[in-house]
Amino acid sequence: MPDSRIHHATLRQRVVDAAHAAALIQPGETVAMSGFTGSGYPKAVPQALAAHIAQTHARGEAFRIQLLTGASTAPELDGALAQVDGLAMRMPFQSDPNARKQINAGKLDYLDIHLSHVAQHVWFGFYNEIDTAVVEVSAILEDGALVPTTSVGNNKTWLDLAKKVIIEVNQWQPVEMLGMHDIYYGTALPPHRLPIPMAHGDDRIGQTTLRCDPDKIAAVVLTDAPDRNSPFNPVDADSARIAGHLIDFLKHEVARGRLPANLLPLQSGVGNIPNAVLAGLASSGFHGLEAYTEVIQDGMLELLKSGVLRYASCTGFAFSPEANEEFRRNLAFYRSRIILRSQEISNHPELVRRLGCIGMNGMLEADLYGNINSTHVMGSSIMNGIGGSGDFARNGFLSVFLSTSTAKHGSISSIVPMVSHVDHTEHDVAVIVTEQGLADLRGLSPKQRARAVISHCAHPDYRDGLQDYFDRACRDSYAKHTPHLLPEALSWHQRWLQTGTMQPSANR
Ligand code: COA
Repeated sequence: MPDSRIHHATLRQRVVDAAHAAALIQPGETVAMSGFTGSGYPKAVPQALAAHIAQTHARGEAFRIQLLTGASTAPELDGALAQVDGLAMRMPFQSDPNARKQINAGKLDYLDIHLSHVAQHVWFGFYNEIDTAVVEVSAILEDGALVPTTSVGNNKTWLDLAKKVIIEVNQWQPVEMLGMHDIYYGTALPPHRLPIPMAHGDDRIGQTTLRCDPDKIAAVVLTDAPDRNSPFNPVDADSARIAGHLIDFLKHEVARGRLPANLLPLQSGVGNIPNAVLAGLASSGFHGLEAYTEVIQDGMLELLKSGVLRYASCTGFAFSPEANEEFRRNLAFYRSRIILRSQEISNHPELVRRLGCIGMNGMLEADLYGNINSTHVMGSSIMNGIGGSGDFARNGFLSVFLSTSTAKHGSISSIVPMVSHVDHTEHDVAVIVTEQGLADLRGLSPKQRARAVISHCAHPDYRDGLQDYFDRACRDSYAKHTPHLLPEALSWHQRWLQTGTMQPSANR
């Protein structure tokens, strides 16, 4: 491959193959890698490292690393390292089947933290020092500046703090993206923090490239490999209904004067249902929308293309192969409408609050009182992680959670008496939507919330059971503010574990 993307004379001389670069990483190291939701992750060094770890293990020697990234990556990174049992610790978000298996088997320590917290907590010294950073870029400029890729994530922090750096220059990444990024170097540690100078979601407050002391760059590896680019499920009838309920609600809020006609900046979580909501917005009659979010997925690209969305600010892409093609074909169009930022800025509570974002995120389950579980199946088995949902739920203008009312072919009710794990408390949740309807929880007391959730969100197969639990809790609970029957509160989950369904009849 031509090294025409490396314009820095000294760094051209540091080009090695992936195996040589991976050999710079020692057992026990804390390694920070680029990558956010399947985009912009290193493609070659992690696989070479996995091979090296496998050989080391075959000799009976230990070799595991602590791995930090922006968010989820791909089989070539999380997958490869988890498969060879090369990870001792993983932070902050993953969605890889192999890593998930290791975590749920208790073999891999997983630290699932808010995405806006990652960089600052590392700066605060809450975690180990970073021994090595492995960061994918699309080019190295003459002055050593690094041109970012389809994600920014925590790369600024990794490059600033790592003792040594390995750069992957990926020819697949479009160099024409130079200019789309906005890397803010103004963060400081308390008590020296200053307000972030952003008043609108499309303000540019930083520079277009990443910087890194060339002396720290120990190796440069050339690659030519695509991002993960997983397909989305086609929008099904339930997702379309969920989208319809939410869009009706947003129109109602505009009619009541609580939202402007072009709404407020949208944040949309990963997953098929949030993607369906974006698809629904395309034909909703809204115009001039804005997005201040962490990930741009297919639905948002469609909205940009049709002009419904004016701009989108994010930290990474999560495109299907088709959307990726569309982006590359019309990059000139998208470059003036998309801004990629560091994840500490894309998810910053100060900015989410100031801009008044509308947070729309998927969930696994909600309880009668509006507590949300986004991460743990049956309270103990991690699905993905909290991602940025908490950054937006706590700080947004509106916090919306979306799910079908049942899962696993109807054997699980997504509305339960008490959630088996809490990611978002009742205090952070404004609206819950299922295909059955929408519960607007704003201004409601706990018992009022329970009535709204049962009547608007629960599936008919589970509605009577929930009503029965609630009625008996109102009668027999220790206190009547947030009524619960403690021995029974998690019995629906237990029933599913024992019988394969939450349906009460299975227990009789
Ligand atoms: N209990 C058990 N499993 C459940 C469930 C429940 N209550 N609800 C959903 N699931 C399972 C589904 O069966 C499906 O499993 P499968 O992959 O084996 O088929 C999986 O969860 C995904 O569900 P799906 O209905 O396809 O929804 P989704 O793609 O919208 O994802 C989350 C839903 C909750 C997993 C996803 O939104 C998530 O990971 N959220 C947390 C992170 C986040 O919010 N980030 C936002 C900022 S980017």
